[in-house]
Amino acid sequence: MKKGLNNVCLKVFAFFAVAVLFTAIPVLADGATYAGTDACKTCHAQVYSKIKESIHQKMIRDASVPGNVHGNLSDPKAPKLSEITYVIGGWYKEESYIKKDGNNYNVTKYEWDPIKQHYANDKSIRDWLVKCAGCHTTGYNTTTQTFKELNIGCEACHGPGSKHIVSKDKADIVIDKSPEACGYCHIRATQAGGGKYNFPVGYVLGKPDTLQYDPEPYTNASFFPDKTSNRHRQQLLDMKTSKHYTAGITCVSCHSPHDAGNVSVYKASDLPVEFQDTSIAIFDASGKVISYSTWNGNGLTMPKEKLCKSCHTSVNEYHKHGFTDKAKGAAITCTDCHMPDVINVNSKLRGALSPHTFRTLSPENSLKYGADIMPNSCTYRCHQDKGADKTARANWALSVLSPAPTPATTTKATETTTKPTPGFGLVMALFGLLAVGYITNRLRK
Ligand code: HEC
Ligand code: HEC
Ligand code: HEC
Ligand code: HEC
Ligand code: HEC
Ligand code: HEC
Ligand code: HEC
Repeated sequence: MKKGLNNVCLKVFAFFAVAVLFTAIPVLADGATYAGTDACKTCHAQVYSKIKESIHQKMIRDASVPGNVHGNLSDPKAPKLSEITYVIGGWYKEESYIKKDGNNYNVTKYEWDPIKQHYANDKSIRDWLVKCAGCHTTGYNTTTQTFKELNIGCEACHGPGSKHIVSKDKADIVIDKSPEACGYCHIRATQAGGGKYNFPVGYVLGKPDTLQYDPEPYTNASFFPDKTSNRHRQQLLDMKTSKHYTAGITCVSCHSPHDAGNVSVYKASDLPVEFQDTSIAIFDASGKVISYSTWNGNGLTMPKEKLCKSCHTSVNEYHKHGFTDKAKGAAITCTDCHMPDVINVNSKLRGALSPHTFRTLSPENSLKYGADIMPNSCTYRCHQDKGADKTARANWALSVLSPAPTPATTTKATETTTKPTPGFGLVMALFGLLAVGYITNRLRK
């Protein structure tokens, strides 16, 4: 297919196919094309510099530039620079490499694990244009198997901008705030109808209904037994099971679209204490730790300690929990229970990600499915002092939760409150009603 397209007739056909696709988007009736992120710089300097600083623009890098490879190149299992063209990621989970050969792009067998700090070379060679490119480039077109630029540029979210850069008219550019606009990449799914692509194909920005895909099945490979994600890039799948999704909350209610978070790199000697548990070591060629990288969370619309309460105004950190001074001293936040960083669990507890179901992981499910494979919010990070045995810890957690919260395996809303006295419950319910009113008002704005 790819080779066949070198044929002129097919190119002409592809051009019309693309033109027809664009006419499906009313605001782009004239068939705008991709202009590239740099074309937006002169008029949108501020957004441009934010984007450039964000991890969205630092994902795929030229391997030949010193410093761009995070892996330890002196490792005997490391690739030689002549074997790779581009390096992907390497910030928190894995670093893979692409070998470009003419129009062929292959993911090589090398994979650097920044957490375990070694190369895992057992990976098969994969066709990057079929398996990865839809989510790691801007303007990928499956018909021509071409893309406009590496990394996530402006037009990955705003659509082709050639018309707009001339007209400066906002009618010539798309703003898509739906979860699908992020979710066409932040998903684990394949082309709808059993197609060969390892990602959703044909999403039209501004039209959330056009996101079609075969979702990752609910197996233990990618989900915990209670159906919470246990692998990265499944945020949309998680979120679609949450009431946030049905209530019209989107990714950009919580994330700033122009800042996917900065991965800050600190010299080994300068690493701030608060990042010590969650940072990823970077090595020099001799294997010495020279620095650490960490996702600093700046990409959220506000610090996570304030974020949830900005809408859930009547809930505080200690609902569903003991009110002892010790508990308060621990300074827990909503995300500790509702988004524990259980994805990519490893012995050092570093570089882990958070599920997006927003439900807590209950100790009841740990006991039901086995505490070794099903973590829970109570004892994953907190309450480690209740013993090394995970089952014993889950039993302890269940025993102090009275009554036990409903295990969250379904999308059904849980009860508003589980509190000791009916009087308190009534007050909380009233608060709840007020909150719903407040939130509904906020959302109408
Ligand atoms: C020559 C200057 C210029 C260039 C280049 C330019 N823009 Fe704009 N853009 C504008 C102006 C002016 C507005 C405000 C239009 C208005 O309010 O009617 C705007 C508005 C926007 C908006 C907001 C639309 C809305 O509905 O509020 C987006 C999104 C946008 N531009 C994206 C881009 C992207 C992406 C690029 C690069 C492909 C780009 N712009 C290049 C001048 C430019
Ligand atoms: C075209 C595909 C694509 C789109 C659209 C996209 N992303 Fe991403 N995003 C990625 C990729 C790929 C990475 C990985 C970058 C890396 O690790 O080097 C990423 C990384 C991120 C990260 C940082 C992850 C981490 O753990 O460090 C955040 C946060 C993020 N994206 C949020 C968003 C939001 C919010 C939107 C929508 C407004 C969005 N993304 C749209 C592909 C995309
Ligand atoms: C359906 C979209 C999609 C596909 C297909 C996809 N990725 Fe990603 N990838 C993402 C997103 C989104 C992220 C970042 C968000 C996250 O980690 O949750 C990411 C992150 C990464 C990272 C960064 C990890 C880090 O530590 O910084 C690497 C490396 C990566 N992907 C490689 C690949 C390779 C190689 C392929 C093909 C074999 C591939 N991806 C296919 C969407 C995709
Ligand atoms: C990951 C997706 C994504 C990328 C990449 C992205 N945008 Fe946006 N942009 C959005 C979303 C979503 C909004 C609407 C945000 C809102 O209103 O809450 C937006 C809003 C805007 C606006 C309206 C005013 C504002 O600042 O909110 C402008 C202008 C704009 N983008 C320009 C750009 C330019 C220029 C680039 C590249 C330099 C870019 N965007 C890259 C998703 C993105
Ligand atoms: C209700 C708020 C909220 C919504 C909605 C939301 N996120 Fe997040 N997201 C967060 C918070 C909070 C974190 C940081 C968790 C932490 O560090 O404890 C986060 C982290 C992330 C990360 C970084 C990796 C990680 O897990 O630490 C990615 C990528 C991401 N979100 C993508 C998305 C995408 C894509 C969507 C929409 C499909 C989305 N988020 C919707 C609140 C939200
Ligand atoms: C922009 C407003 C907004 C923000 C920010 C927000 N929420 Fe929500 N949340 C809602 C709305 C609206 C609902 C749905 C209420 C309903 O229908 O009962 C909801 C529902 C929920 C639910 C119910 C269970 C379910 O199925 O999802 C939980 C739990 C929850 N939110 C936790 C959080 C946490 C944790 C955060 C911070 C990471 C957060 N929310 C941030 C607006 C928000
Ligand atoms: C100590 C753990 C813990 C903390 C911290 C926590 N929650 Fe919860 N929350 C729960 C449990 C357990 C449930 C019931 C099961 C579920 O829905 O996941 C719950 C339920 C909810 C619900 C569903 C409606 C309800 O009341 O039953 C919302 C909304 C919610 N929490 C918001 C928040 C917000 C906002 C914060 C931070 C201010 C927060 N929670 C902090 C444990 C916690």
